[in-house]
Formats: sequence, C-alpha cells, structure tokens
Amino acid sequence: MSERVTVSFTLNGAARRVSVPPMKRLLDVLREDCRATGTKEGCGEGECGACTVLLDGLPVNACLVPAVHADGAKVVTVEGLAKNDRLSGLQQAFVDLGAAQCGMCTPGMLVTSAALLATCKGRVPSDGEVREALAGTLCRCTGYQKIVEAVQAAAAPKRAKAKPAGAKAKAKPKAKRAVRAAKAKPKAAKRKPAAARAKAKRTTRRTSRGRA
Ligand code: FES
Ligand code: FES
Repeated sequence: MSERVTVSFTLNGAARRVSVPPMKRLLDVLREDCRATGTKEGCGEGECGACTVLLDGLPVNACLVPAVHADGAKVVTVEGLAKNDRLSGLQQAFVDLGAAQCGMCTPGMLVTSAALLATCKGRVPSDGEVREALAGTLCRCTGYQKIVEAVQAAAAPKRAKAKPAGAKAKAKPKAKRAVRAAKAKPKAAKRKPAAARAKAKRTTRRTSRGRA
C-alpha cells in the first residue's frame, strides 16, 4: 500500500482532514478530495495562474504546492468569496463590468484580487497596482482592462455609486414619461378636427373629379 499522510487545514472557513499521498498537489486535493472544483487547472506548470488559491491570505499556484504544505493553514478558494449564496462585491463587479468571459482565469483572478483588496483596506488601487498584482494570472479573453476596472469598482462601491458633486439629478422614469407626453401633445393639437378633415377630403375628391 502506498504511503499516505494526513493533512488538516481550513477550507473556506470549514475544517478539513484528508489522507493523501505526500506529494499530491493541493490543486488535486481541493478538486478531488474536497470537491471544491471552482479552482481550475490551466497549464499545470505554474505559468497561467488559473489554479490560484489563497494560502494563509497569500496567492499561490495550487498546481505547484504539495498538499502537505497546507497542513494547519487557512485555504480560500473562489467558493469562499461568496457569503450565504450571495456573490461578494468583487464577484458582482466582475459580472457587471464584463470582467468574466470564458471564465477559465476568473477563479484565479478573483482570489488574487481579493488578496489585493484586503491590503488596500478601502483604498482604490491604481491601474498599475492591480496589473502588478494580477501579473501572474493570464487571461485570453478580456484584454485585462475590464478586470482592472472591476477590481477598482469593488474597492469603492459606494464611491462608484455616489453622484459626482454638482451632477444633475437624473429624471425619474415617471417624470421622463411625462416629459415625452408633454412633447407629443402639441403634435396632436395641430391635427384638424374630424369634421374639418372629412370636408377637406370631399373637396380634394371633387377637385380631382373636375380634373379627370
Ligand atoms: S494551472 Fe497552475 S499556474 Fe497554470
Ligand atoms: S475570461 Fe477567458 S481566460 Fe480570462
């Protein structure tokens, strides 16, 4: 029988204990033994960052980390970002701003961004900071700009929603309808009454018969 070791760690806040071969990758332990399949495997060689998870708060490539290194540690995967089946602000920003497309890189992007935002403590990171933090995670779909914008929006959701100083209040839908109706009325008022239209028709017919 092949050698196995017991590894105990916290996965997304819950205690886990697995018995695995000593060199089994953390990525495989998460996906196969813990059924946490949100973490993806891209290259399997530490190049793409798709497998990124947080190990004691720091992003690591789970395809390069033997599971024994997680013994006693806190592991956070993409599944750990949502609370009570509600997406986190960061996840929602990715959805709203089109930062997730095929989704292959998204779990790695999200946990790495979450680690960055934890260090920012409400400050909006600069473009450069976000790009540097995400440099080890590759995306073939988004061109990165939408991801940068989503991370920044998640850093200051209140500021993003707040109206800029001096901005005019947006007309409410009801008010907009009233404005449209008011604009439409003059046109209707210009229409001749039905009797006048009928008279005009009769005159036109008589004129055209006279010409025939
Ligand atoms: S799968 Fe781990 S870095 Fe690509
Ligand atoms: S969304 Fe497709 S690789 Fe990033």
